[in-house]
Amino acid sequence: MHGETADSAGAGSRWDDTYGRGEANLSWYQPYPAPSLRMIAAAAIDSTGAVIDVGGGAGHLVDALLDRDFEDVTVLDISAVGIEQARQRLGARAARVQWLVQDVLAWRPTRRYDVWHDRAVFHFLTSPAGRAAYLTTLEQATHPRSIAIFGTFAPEGPTRCSGLPVARYGPDRLAATLGSRWHPIASAAERHTTPGGAIQPFTWVVFSRTAGDVSSVPP
Ligand SMILES: C[S@@+](CC[C@H](N)C(=O)[O-])C[C@H]1O[C@@H](n2cnc3c(N)ncnc32)[C@H](O)[C@@H]1O
Repeated sequence: MHGETADSAGAGSRWDDTYGRGEANLSWYQPYPAPSLRMIAAAAIDSTGAVIDVGGGAGHLVDALLDRDFEDVTVLDISAVGIEQARQRLGARAARVQWLVQDVLAWRPTRRYDVWHDRAVFHFLTSPAGRAAYLTTLEQATHPRSIAIFGTFAPEGPTRCSGLPVARYGPDRLAATLGSRWHPIASAAERHTTPGGAIQPFTWVVFSRTAGDVSSVPP
């Protein structure tokens, strides 16, 4: 057992219940995903790249990618309710997206993606076993030129989210946790404002599976 974390048995129904409260009431609600888009721009990803939003749930990155004519967009989430909220919001445009209701820790990808995006999912993995399972999936879903974009709670960020404990990362700790396979190429700090008005510091890092220069992305 990994304890009460995102990798717990029954995690899907827990997240379904959470999304059932309404997306706009959730602390991570962000109608315009500005930090994610800045990271995508920093990595010079163009609209032909295959992008997967891991733990995308009802998040709005998918809308922004479709607005920018991204051709190959996948959203994966353990919560069918979260995914259904995104599909309903997108209407007919939802047909342009591959939707996967899967546990990222157990999912076995059948293809590889150019861009892996994770906002506020990895930080729920508080056990070594959970993180190792996630990194196995990341490895299988990417190729040597892939980009991985992570947004996690920063060291001064909250210690819990949605009733669950989280791990907090600065860029160096995140890089060390992902391992030598992944090279940081850009990073940024974000202060996310929750719908209730609280400030949550986030760390954003863009990684490449090949080495490159590190740059700081202005806010
Ligand atoms: C804090 S929310 C962030 C949602 C989205 N990334 C966003 O920024 O709006 C965490 C998300 O991770 C999903 N999740 C949690 N554990 C997961 C797992 N093991 N596999 C796939 N998705 C998971 C939840 O259902 C939820 O959508």
